[in-house]
Amino acid sequence: MLVLGLESSCDETSAAVVLDGKKILSNIVATQIPFHKIYNGVVPEIASRKHIEWITPVVKQATKVAGVELDAIDAIAATNRPGLVGGLLVGLTYGKALAFALKKPFIAINHMLGHLYGSQLEYNGVCNPAVYPFLGLLVSGGHTIISIAKNFNEIEVLGTTVDDSIGEAFDKVAKFYDLGYPGGVVIDRLATTGDKESAHFPTPKLGKGHDFDVSYSGLKTSVIHQKDLFWNKNIPYNKENLCAAFQETAVKILVDKVAAAQKATGLKTIVAGGGVAANTRLRSMLKECLPLDIEIVFPPLKLCGDNAAMIAGVGYQYLMRGETSPLNTPALARVSEFKHKSTRI
Ligand code: KG4
Ligand code: ZN
Repeated sequence: MLVLGLESSCDETSAAVVLDGKKILSNIVATQIPFHKIYNGVVPEIASRKHIEWITPVVKQATKVAGVELDAIDAIAATNRPGLVGGLLVGLTYGKALAFALKKPFIAINHMLGHLYGSQLEYNGVCNPAVYPFLGLLVSGGHTIISIAKNFNEIEVLGTTVDDSIGEAFDKVAKFYDLGYPGGVVIDRLATTGDKESAHFPTPKLGKGHDFDVSYSGLKTSVIHQKDLFWNKNIPYNKENLCAAFQETAVKILVDKVAAAQKATGLKTIVAGGGVAANTRLRSMLKECLPLDIEIVFPPLKLCGDNAAMIAGVGYQYLMRGETSPLNTPALARVSEFKHKSTRI
């Protein structure tokens, strides 16, 4: 089965053709980074306009690289939630129109399910899909979710952020110190030559009922407004040191909660997904802090960020169950699906 995936929830216009929910025949990602860089953040209106401009050539490129005609596609899957509504509408409407014209099934996809599916795809000829249930770790620009993934769309949320997401903390710190965009990528790079002991920022104490929850607004505030209070006076201030110290704390906050969730659930596999899953320190610290017999699965770097292959992969799974979406399915900026309960999405 060939599924054409479309992704336009933020600042990447992407289309992909995926065979049987696994084999990526094409995964075209047109990044808008140069257009948002000058503003140090995503400008929603610019994003929507670029999606409109690029969606047709990106889809054409995806079918060309895959070596298939549109007629050969069995279904079309598009992200419809969560994200920037203007951007979502472009891929969603395009997908619906294509499905209608081609008389093929249409499937609306939750972007976060896509991120959790990233490592289930074959990459460079290798495919080792994690077996459900596993501990799912979703870390992106808008979400920080620790969950039990019982299936590709059955997610029991154990913990989430009570305020900002981890990605937002990276982005806001980078924006404040004018380090560059996207913030997480730049901080990750600068931190490699920095000293993580240069500052010891406080970590949140969330108390009862928040065993697996995280918080990032306090860290963000202390790094931005109270840096001098926590700086180690024996170490000189520079942006590399600042990034290393901030990143160490941001990642530690998360890894401590992932370790606690692993211990509580006894699950032996952890699967990460989302843009922040590309973070070098997150990858190394998880390995350092979890027991040796725990398998930690990260998507390949190219599949951590937004891409349509992950959307096509989830689409295939729904298709196999005969579950499709009506053509009046709306685009949604936010979802209530990732609450503290078992959810079928
Ligand atoms: O999944 P994603 O591409 O888009 C959303 O669904 O939000 O994630 C984007 C987020 C941004 O906050 C970006 O700064 C962060 O992922 N990011 C990183 C790294 N690469 C991207 N954060 C930390 N380290 C990285 N290497
Ligand atoms: Zn994403």
